[in-house]
Amino acid sequence: MTVAIVTGGAKGLGKAFCEALLKRSYKVCFCDVDTDEGENTQQFLAKQYGNGNVYFQKCDVRSENDFTALFNGVLTKYSSIDLIVNNAGIIHEKQWKNCVDINLNGVIQGSMLAMDNMKHGGGVIVNVSSLSGVLPTLYAPVYAATKAAVVNFTRSWAMNPAVTQNHIRMVTMCPAFADTDIIKDIKEEQFQGKQFVAPFMEKLGIMPLERVTEGFLKVLDDQDNNGKSLIVTANVMDYATFPDPFQPANK
Ligand SMILES: NC(=O)c1ccc[n+]([C@@H]2O[C@H](COP(=O)([O-])OP(=O)(O)OC[C@H]3O[C@@H](n4cnc5c(N)ncnc54)[C@H](O)[C@@H]3O)[C@@H](O)[C@H]2O)c1
Repeated sequence: MTVAIVTGGAKGLGKAFCEALLKRSYKVCFCDVDTDEGENTQQFLAKQYGNGNVYFQKCDVRSENDFTALFNGVLTKYSSIDLIVNNAGIIHEKQWKNCVDINLNGVIQGSMLAMDNMKHGGGVIVNVSSLSGVLPTLYAPVYAATKAAVVNFTRSWAMNPAVTQNHIRMVTMCPAFADTDIIKDIKEEQFQGKQFVAPFMEKLGIMPLERVTEGFLKVLDDQDNNGKSLIVTANVMDYATFPDPFQPANK
């Protein structure tokens, strides 16, 4: 039995990741703060993939208590945790502390709990960042900062013996715009200049969820990607490269 936790799984990318995992016969527990949407999605997924294979638990990734209860619940029901997808996220430049709490602190909390649980049997931690995690994003500096932090948090842990010696793999995903609610009905207050969003969307396009799921499955299947960050756009599906300061100087 292979068991996964997906945060923010009630809709959007998280829901698509849950479906992709259920198609691969994972047992899936997904959490969200949105109980109504979570329960609807639970009903939909259980009908498609079987009642015993998926369940929803309310969990706010900002809450250590909720997160601990989520892990304990999964261990009681399925006995192991092989994969966590730290996916829950928001864009809100005005509510920037909330943005940091969800996008960064939530990912840190989920990763640390997962590492603790995986230290005996190994596992995979997928942290959902964004193209904004590797590119400056003039209309959402706080969002970009949280996503960049997720990239380097993951790269840093990936080098640590607690990960490398315990058969754990930690990977980041950096998708461009995808067709979910996070980019629909966007409000002025969510951005530092909402008018700057459209030109980026026009250049990059809006990906169908299937494209991001393709990247998600690549991240799961590539065994040699510990610490890497997969960029997913309509045209690009490749791991990001970073300068290596330890290289001998170019003469
Ligand atoms: N859609 C895009 O264009 C895009 C691009 C790059 C990265 N991302 C990232 O992908 C992830 C998923 O976003 P999405 O596009 O599916 O958005 P979405 O708004 O459709 O879904 C996000 C989900 O997270 C949940 N959530 C929000 N706060 C939470 C909390 N405190 N605790 C638990 N759940 C919470 C929401 O209720 C929602 O169900 C986010 O981290 C987002 O930053 C999205």
